[in-house]
Amino acid sequence: MTEAVLLVGGRGTRLRPLTLHTPKPMVPAAGVPFLAHQLARARAAGVDHVVLATSYLAEVFEPYFGDGSAHGLRLTYVTEDVPLGTGGAIRAAADALEAGPGDDVLVFNGDILSGLDVRALLRRHERAQAEVTLHLTRVADPRAFGLVPTDADGRVLAFTEKPRRPEEIVTDQINAGCYVFRREVIDTIPTGRPVSVERETFPGLLAAGALLHGVVDASYWLDLGRPASFVQASADLVRGVVRSPAVPGEPGEHLVLPGAHVEPGARLRGGTVVGAGARVAAGAEVEGSVVLDGARIEEGARVRASMVGAGARVGPRTVLDGAVLGDRADVGADNELRDGARVWCGTAIPDAAIRFSAA
Ligand code: GDD
Ligand code: MG
Repeated sequence: MTEAVLLVGGRGTRLRPLTLHTPKPMVPAAGVPFLAHQLARARAAGVDHVVLATSYLAEVFEPYFGDGSAHGLRLTYVTEDVPLGTGGAIRAAADALEAGPGDDVLVFNGDILSGLDVRALLRRHERAQAEVTLHLTRVADPRAFGLVPTDADGRVLAFTEKPRRPEEIVTDQINAGCYVFRREVIDTIPTGRPVSVERETFPGLLAAGALLHGVVDASYWLDLGRPASFVQASADLVRGVVRSPAVPGEPGEHLVLPGAHVEPGARLRGGTVVGAGARVAAGAEVEGSVVLDGARIEEGARVRASMVGAGARVGPRTVLDGAVLGDRADVGADNELRDGARVWCGTAIPDAAIRFSAA
């Protein structure tokens, strides 16, 4: 049996307003809650029991995923009433695992889309005889991540979470948010108080001389924490750049869910997804974007790399580029919203009220 803990308790602050009423893993990407893709990928890697470590808006997961049988897995829900951090969540979730001494446990951050071969990671862990094995990836700017330099054999030399000082940036290898833990190591994490696995557990294990093994992998990898990367991940899933068995359709330039209405003459491309009950009018152009259920894109609107919340409206000729509209936001005609612009849930913007100008 292969078991995994999925960390899904974060507040998703960088994805607000979409995460005000929906936890980040439940925000739809390529037509289904993002978590469905992670579960499907875990399932495909042979995982048969997943413990969901929930906290923020914990109550919304179970009604959707139930006991997991519809997804080919067994799901157990563990909720921290007070968020216990990544380490505390792993520790709390471990009580629901069936793994015993000597077993290995997978742990996944709940906001990562990756093409990692999880079975290969488990084999590398076994071969290295490590306490913990970490999936690492290389990024151009590692500052927003956990830095993990390794030696030639893959032995982890240090773990520096979100370095502040330039001299701390000693590598472009970062923690990719997927680990294999030896079960006993999880039991050493303290209970009853918040613990960061990145800031406390990993540095502590290294200081105690434990063997942490890093596996650098070059396959697809994206952290969905920011709106730009969330829409990118959804578009890549729709286009099949990265595969998920949970995408409800064949790979292509767009995914139109049942019950959506796209008028002839509307153009959808770049991996755009249009949710159930949403409408896209003739002459509108939607590229690389997520249009959630019941949203309306009106005539001549141009939407690029944006998220349009459930029931939101994009008025005629309005331009969105890199924008996020909360649920039921109502943007009138002839507006221009770019570069991280956000419209709060239910907020109305009159016609021709906002014009973007570069500086
Ligand atoms: N249950 C629970 N409780 N889950 C939590 C908590 C908590 O208190 N805090 C965070 N999480 C979950 C989040 O929902 C997310 O799935 C995961 O833990 C990581 O938290 P993020 O808030 O997304 O962290 P990050 O993106 O800033 O950094 C992490 O991921 C990077 C890779 O994307 C770290 O692990 C970095 O080291 C890593 O490089
Ligand atoms: Mg993250």
